[in-house]
Order: sequence, then structure tokens, then C-alpha cells
Amino acid sequence: MQGKFITLEGIDGAGKSTHLAWLAEFFAEHGVKAVVTREPGGTSLGEKLRALLLDKDQPMHLETEALLMFAARREHLDKVILPALTRGNWVLCDRFTDATFAYQGSGRGVDWARLLTLEQWVQGTLQPDLTLLFDLAPEEGRRRAGSIKTPDRFEQERDDFFGRVRDGYLQRAREDSKRIRVIDAGASIELIRRELREIMEPLCQ
Ligand code: ADP
Ligand code: TYD
Repeated sequence: MQGKFITLEGIDGAGKSTHLAWLAEFFAEHGVKAVVTREPGGTSLGEKLRALLLDKDQPMHLETEALLMFAARREHLDKVILPALTRGNWVLCDRFTDATFAYQGSGRGVDWARLLTLEQWVQGTLQPDLTLLFDLAPEEGRRRAGSIKTPDRFEQERDDFFGRVRDGYLQRAREDSKRIRVIDAGASIELIRRELREIMEPLCQ
């Protein structure tokens, strides 16, 4: 059986890492073999591209940024995601293409149609089976991520940037409401876990 491809999305500080760790444990308890990975990154070349993309001393054209995100993704699909799904493993991925629409598209202003072309080129018809979008106000995301000592190239952006990123995510959710589940990330961790359990238990049967 083909495994399931699950992605987690949201602005910085929305709680993806927190819930990803919990979901990995949840799957282990339910006997589901899950590969945990992230974007940009997840492969040896992808992690090098990630370092360039997050380096606050490395300016780049907004379209270069989008192209590098998709370059890392192409590698990630080939080396990690598709082989895992074919083996029957599940894949739990911290961010995927919705992040490119939200950050590079809405945040930076890269033409949405160009991103659709790249998405089609790199993924064909492949989409995650389920995307959990942790929706949070930018001010709250900043408050939660407040302890970060050296913000990276994205974390150093202002609240208006993250406001546009949030709107971009919500637009993607409207365009693909079957795949993308919007979760109120302003709720308590306990409440969110309860919601995640309700979403995941039927999938694990
Ligand atoms: P992300 O991976 O999306 O950037 P994190 O999971 O690292 O976000 O969470 C950022 C901070 O917010 C962490 O200190 C985490 O413990 C805290 N946090 C996560 N979810 C919640 C929540 N629902 N309520 C309060 N604090 C939270
Ligand atoms: P993330 O792993 O969430 O950062 P951290 O480890 O600091 O929590 O993601 C790295 C950054 O990359 C994040 O700020 C969002 C950005 N990003 C994009 O701009 N476009 C993309 O397509 C992806 C996958 C990430």
C-alpha cells in the first residue's frame, strides 16, 4: 500500500515543530512507520540550499528564492518523499509547496501563475494527502518565537510580511479545502492535540 503524505504549514512560531514531534509519537504508537522530514532541506543538497536560503547575509532576487525552493523540493521528492511513499511509509513533512505560495508568492510578490507552473513542473499531479495549516496572527507568532537569538532571513521580516504570508496560506486553503485543514493555532496545545487525534485516528485504521 502507498503511504500517506502529510504536510504541516503555518507562519513562523505557529507550532509546527511542537505538533510534528507529537504526531511522530502518535504514529509510532499506532504502528504507522513515518519518515519525518522538512523543507527546504531533507537531502544533502537540500540542506545546503536551505543554509543559503536562510542566511540573512545572502541577499537574492525574489524569483531566485522561489526557484531554489523548488530545486530543493525536486531533490527531496526524488531522494526521500517518493521512495518512502512507494515503500509504504508515511511522510510527515514540515512545510511543502503551500509555503512557497505563501512566502514567495504572497509574502514577497512572486507571480502566483509562475508558481503554479513550477508546481506542475516539479510535482506533476502529486499533492499531499493532507495538509495541516496552523493558522495564527503574526503578532502571536512573533511573541511565541520571541526567544530566537539570531533570526534567519525570514524570521527577521516584519509583521506585515507575515500577515501577507498568512493570507496566502488561507487563499491556498480556500482553493483546496478538501486537502488543507485549517487549525486554530491560537488555541491551547491540549485542544489542538485533541483535534489532531480526531483527524488522524480514522486515517490510521
Ligand atoms: P514553529 O515550528 O511553527 O515555528 P514551534 O512549534 O517552534 O513553532 O512553536 C513556537 C513556540 O510556541 C514554542 O516555544 C512552543 O512551545 C510554543 N507553542 C506552540 N504551540 C503553542 C500553543 N498552542 N500555545 C502556546 N504556545 C505554543
Ligand atoms: P522552518 O523550518 O519552519 O524554520 P525554523 O526551523 O526556523 O522553524 O522554515 C524555514 C523558513 O523557510 C521559514 O521561515 C519559511 C521559509 N520557506 C519559504 O519561504 N518557502 C518555502 O517554500 C519553504 C518550504 C520554506
